[in-house]
Amino acid sequence: MSFRTEFPNVPGAPKELEPVQQAMLAMSYGVHVIGSRDADGSLNAMIADWVMQVSFEPRLVTASIENDARTLRYIRATNVFSVNMLHEKDGIDIARKVVMPSEGRKVKGRSHEHAQVVHHKLEGLRYELHESGVPILLDALGWYTCEAESFIPAGDHTLVIAKVTDGGMLRSGEMLIERDLGWEYAG
Ligand SMILES: Cc1cc2nc3c(=O)[nH]c(=O)nc-3n(C[C@H](O)[C@H](O)[C@H](O)COP(=O)(O)O)c2cc1C
Repeated sequence: MSFRTEFPNVPGAPKELEPVQQAMLAMSYGVHVIGSRDADGSLNAMIADWVMQVSFEPRLVTASIENDARTLRYIRATNVFSVNMLHEKDGIDIARKVVMPSEGRKVKGRSHEHAQVVHHKLEGLRYELHESGVPILLDALGWYTCEAESFIPAGDHTLVIAKVTDGGMLRSGEMLIERDLGWEYAG
């Protein structure tokens, strides 16, 4: 399955690659699913490559999230989120279930009717709620929970800088990387 052919209108599916895009695409990323919760308890999940640790003491990570993502709205509302690292062996099965935006309007070219559709991406995935209320995917390689400390504008994304509050491994093995997933998010 190719992200470019199946979802040609989703960001990350360039048609012609400029040299600078090729250079940007040479970077390696792990594939994560960010779990989030709104103030009313609604849950969401999104695929994210752009997640990394940025401080040991305190233990901080950053996630770069599209300004119009439902996930960003939820994190702004509750300050909490989970990062679930997908397993190299079968992480693609989870990725396929969460790849579409929760809101149909985010996909260019959708009819008005389809634009109103909200995908509940956690349906069909095995998860438990952490004590902070965010979903932990039980078939991930490992997970950690975060508490947002600052939101920094970064072009069409927002950098969420967050303290790591808990975490653990669920399975042995390695993390799924974007190159093996075959769907690109850079350029
Ligand atoms: C492989 C891959 C990696 C992605 N990485 C990111 C990312 O790091 N940050 C981001 O904001 N969106 C990323 N996306 C796009 C989001 O997953 C997508 O916009 C999602 O629909 C947002 O979901 P939400 O509106 O339900 O929160 C990525 C998509 C794919 C396919």
